[in-house]
Amino acid sequence: MAGKKAAGEGAAAGSSTPETSTTGSSDNEKPAPDNVGATVASTGNGEEPRIGVFVCHCGVNIAGFLDVEEVTEYAKTLPDVVFATRNLYTCAEDGITAIKDAIVEHGLNRVVVASCTPRTHEPLFRDACEEAGLNKYLFEFANIRDQCSWVHMHEWDRATAKAKDLVRMSVARASLLQPLDEISIDIHPASLVIGAGIAGMTAALAIADQGFEVHLVEKEAEVGGALRSLASLYPTDTDPAQVITRYLERLQANPNIRLYTGATLKAISGYFGNFDVTVSAGDRDETFKVGTVVVATGSEEMKPDGLYGFGELPGVVTQGQLEMMLKEDRLGGVDDVVVISCAGSRGQRVSYCNRICCMVGIKNAIALKERFPGANISILHNDVEVYGVRQEEWYTRARSMGIRFRKFNPEMRPEVVRDGDRLKVSMRFDLMQREVVLPADLVVLSSPQVQTQGGLDLAKMLRVPVGQDRFFFEAHVKLRPVDFATDGIYVCGTAQGPKDVPESIAQAHAAASHAVNPMRKLTVSTEAITSRVDPSSCIGCGFCAWVCPFGAVEMVARDGAWVSSINAALCKGCGACAAGCPTLAITTQHFTEDQTLAAIKAAFPEPSEPGDDYYPQVLAFTCNWCSYAGADLAGVSRFQYPANVRIIRLMCSARIDPLYVLEAFRHNADAVLMSGCHIGDCHYISANLMTEARFFALKDYLAALGVDPERLQLAWISAAEGEKWAEAVRNIVEIAQRLGPLDKTPLRYKESERFKAGAR
Ligand code: FES
Repeated sequence: MAGKKAAGEGAAAGSSTPETSTTGSSDNEKPAPDNVGATVASTGNGEEPRIGVFVCHCGVNIAGFLDVEEVTEYAKTLPDVVFATRNLYTCAEDGITAIKDAIVEHGLNRVVVASCTPRTHEPLFRDACEEAGLNKYLFEFANIRDQCSWVHMHEWDRATAKAKDLVRMSVARASLLQPLDEISIDIHPASLVIGAGIAGMTAALAIADQGFEVHLVEKEAEVGGALRSLASLYPTDTDPAQVITRYLERLQANPNIRLYTGATLKAISGYFGNFDVTVSAGDRDETFKVGTVVVATGSEEMKPDGLYGFGELPGVVTQGQLEMMLKEDRLGGVDDVVVISCAGSRGQRVSYCNRICCMVGIKNAIALKERFPGANISILHNDVEVYGVRQEEWYTRARSMGIRFRKFNPEMRPEVVRDGDRLKVSMRFDLMQREVVLPADLVVLSSPQVQTQGGLDLAKMLRVPVGQDRFFFEAHVKLRPVDFATDGIYVCGTAQGPKDVPESIAQAHAAASHAVNPMRKLTVSTEAITSRVDPSSCIGCGFCAWVCPFGAVEMVARDGAWVSSINAALCKGCGACAAGCPTLAITTQHFTEDQTLAAIKAAFPEPSEPGDDYYPQVLAFTCNWCSYAGADLAGVSRFQYPANVRIIRLMCSARIDPLYVLEAFRHNADAVLMSGCHIGDCHYISANLMTEARFFALKDYLAALGVDPERLQLAWISAAEGEKWAEAVRNIVEIAQRLGPLDKTPLRYKESERFKAGAR
């Protein structure tokens, strides 16, 4: 029967096992243990590894650009591999069934799938393992599509060789994988919602309506947030005061909601499920416990001081100030109004597009035109961004009312000067290829929303990240848009970035449902990838406590000496502590030293050939989030780059132990690339600052050893920077090509016994 594709690109009907496939056991198949066919090794603990490898054709996405059969045959020759096969689509229903069946039939206690990317398909394959009785942490991925077949589409032989290397690295790592148990945490069934603007009020009501206690904390004396200073709301033209009143009545009528106004969040400690909160309201402090937290602190309008005469020329105001004038009916009369969009955004003061200010400008221009029908109103813009059908209608309506839109060149922004007792705006009107001078009584600047100081302080208190734009930074823009990497804390509204009221409401509902889900279950399992300390090896230096971005490490006294203690519920598994531990007392589960070193050693078994055949060998470390996603995007975008690079994924770039870099060089890499999220975008708050510090220290050390430090490169890559990733690879390959094969003489240091023992 035709296989049904569970997920992934390019699904096609048909069996997931190609007719030409060499299904079944490998030539070197070892006898299955006694329990084969009856019970399955559920842990892999203490047993000889029995690895199954499943190489995916992904239709033609992989098989069209490299030799899948050759890769599969090669996999059969690898140590500990007892079974290898290939599938048309391993993620299809029959591909998943094949994995589950093979686990039982061949007594597999570890599984490697060589296919697309763990970012989309790891959960699916992990589930298959679990359904067959295998701990999900005994599953390993080899990314031979996004990071191989799709980026070397014209290099069949090199792509095939690289795929074999990637499978070998994954098998080496898989041999050392350990079963892990996730931590079960009791959840206190109450939520803290911080901020009572439209997003906070919506989230609070959505949580409370589902029967959970909510503590809603607002720093102002009244609820409503930014709505309180708006004259009207688009696209419905509603009076914001009426909206606030309706919401307030619902808040006050809901017995599950405790509202604190004029209140500040004084302290919060604990972890997912068990946060201890202290709120200061008036002259009293109140403490309570919650299980989840929703951040809805909003944003504020940037004051564009010094731009277009703002703060210097009377009559130059922001949209926010105009809203208040309209709301309080303070505008005597105007003949000429000029609205300037993107005042401070899109590269002028901040890099981002404010998304909503075009629409706000149109809404307020219409409001002015309705009050002063004879007024000349011009909107000077750098593209009009009115997304959504209703907004588009407002744009059309504005044009039909005689409001004029003129596009300026962002390289030559408009200028505002005093002209007697009025204002004068001059601009280069690109469409007409001429200068335009507009008289104005009022110049209105559409300036962007920015993060508040209170928001930044809160980010520190909660230990959640803000991005480069200083807005709260979600765990994943598409997959986890209202979560933080820190479990149990969620975000909504403009605290996360500019958005309008309908979007804030929609996001608040999403955040509320994420906050409610774990409270419904009363317990949750958290990720087992956390750091662990071996107290017997710990020398109590406290470095781990210093670098931990989450405050998960505490120094405790034991037998008269300090030792490190890690709170697993607070630890997020970035590994910054483990990478800096001088005695290797700390390791990060699922990314242990020996597992990573096994992959490093497997990457390039032989030194590169000197002479004309020299083909540099480059090892790259990425973080699990931005830079790995950037490398995947290069594949999705089919950006081609040299096939010299092999990638090792870690949770955070801060997990790149300096020893990994040295071991990579010692094990035949001619160059090493360290990569991670941009500074400010690290999913573990500020952990990648350690990456940067270690990179520069390593450069100095390599130079002192006599290794050209150019052989080590650092690249900050976002998930959207596929081309930048491709360029970073081209760059380091070019460097390695120029420098020639690495002379490893300076790296003949004695190998750690621990590494020797672990990495076979
Ligand atoms: Fe990407 Fe930390 S998660 S560098």
